[in-house]
Amino acid sequence: MHSIGSIKKHYKYLFYLCMHDFLEVFYKLVSKKIHIKKSLFKNIFLTMDYSKIPSPCYILDEVAFRKNLELIRNVKEKSGAEIILAFKAFALWKVFPILKEYDLNHAAASSLAESKLAFEEMGNKAHTYSPAFTEKEFSEISSYSNYITFNSLRQFEQFHPQAAKKGISCGLRINPEYSQVETALYNPCSAGSRLGITADSLGDKLPEGVEGLHFHTLCESTSYELEKTLEVVIQKFGKFFPQIKWINMGGGHLMTKKGYNTEHLISLIRSFKSAYPHLEVILEPGSAFAWQTGVLVSSVIDIVENNGIKTAMLDVSFSCHMPDCLEMPYKPVITNACDEQAGKPTYRMGGNSCLAGDFMGNWSFDKELKIGDRIIFEDMIHYTMVKTTMFNGVSHPAIGIWSKDNEFKLIRQFGYEDYKNRLS
Ligand SMILES: Cc1ncc(COP(=O)(O)O)c(C=O)c1O
Repeated sequence: MHSIGSIKKHYKYLFYLCMHDFLEVFYKLVSKKIHIKKSLFKNIFLTMDYSKIPSPCYILDEVAFRKNLELIRNVKEKSGAEIILAFKAFALWKVFPILKEYDLNHAAASSLAESKLAFEEMGNKAHTYSPAFTEKEFSEISSYSNYITFNSLRQFEQFHPQAAKKGISCGLRINPEYSQVETALYNPCSAGSRLGITADSLGDKLPEGVEGLHFHTLCESTSYELEKTLEVVIQKFGKFFPQIKWINMGGGHLMTKKGYNTEHLISLIRSFKSAYPHLEVILEPGSAFAWQTGVLVSSVIDIVENNGIKTAMLDVSFSCHMPDCLEMPYKPVITNACDEQAGKPTYRMGGNSCLAGDFMGNWSFDKELKIGDRIIFEDMIHYTMVKTTMFNGVSHPAIGIWSKDNEFKLIRQFGYEDYKNRLS
């Protein structure tokens, strides 16, 4: 029996979902006529009251998160693929109960810590792949994993006997030597790559005990890029398919991004499965789960000027808290700001670490910035919390959720002990 309260909450949630959809359609129609900046519009989506949120803080928007999970569950059900969360992108484990509601509570792990987290907090054994397993950790990893993928034939030979005794299904990571990812840092198929085994090193038959193949060659990619990759994989490795039970198509499937053709992905996987009905298909996206599901709230602490360049000094750091901005590199969207525009107050954003390059620019605002203003970096949930450092001892942003009931919930704050405990 549902109580009146829970029914009300349910309708309130449905209302939020409808409003999201309505605003999306409204945006598409209106933005064609008047050129609203995307970031300004997106601000309407977030019903967050920033005055209730401490600075700095990562905030997950529960409604946006559930919307992604709904879409991923739909792809999973229609395609017949198993879709698991790659922890390397997002591992905010306090929200794992929400994943469970969508039957999405399996994970791809890449270390002992990630496989243990899957076991402890999702209650399921992980699909684990690591570029190099160590003798010291393997036994524990294998108690938290039911699929293990090895990066080399040597690692397979070394660990397969142990894994097989525990009933773990073992696979090999293959390198199809084909990837459309242009950023070298994210391209696992660049010449001489250390990731995966090339077709010419495998000969004609897989070693006894190999039950699966795993490839990861995509990054924020479309289903059409997967289609091209699959053609290459089938051409180079298809001869091994009769010997295996599963194929893991890695991550990089950005199915929750606007414009991603999920129907094409579904039909691609369905036709793959009808060609190879004995193969279990696994996808392990990370970004897609947390894509556009929240922000990093920060504040202006100081404003400095040098040679006419104004820098807003923030209580967050690109290097420590938004490292992909410097690594990729890419310029994040700031709510209510736009790319540099002549005649408008324009600033660099400066991080609070001592790294000289810990800044990005430029953004223009409607008004001059002042000390205490909030700077909201959008889409800062994936590949942020999992990658942060305490370099320089800078304060780590808190972590919170803006709930579907329109309330701020603080999940975690960090302090001196967190910094100190990492160092000795
Ligand atoms: C082996 C593997 N699987 C899955 C992923 C997740 O990719 P994404 O977050 O782009 O979906 C990555 C990302 O680097 C990866 O290396």
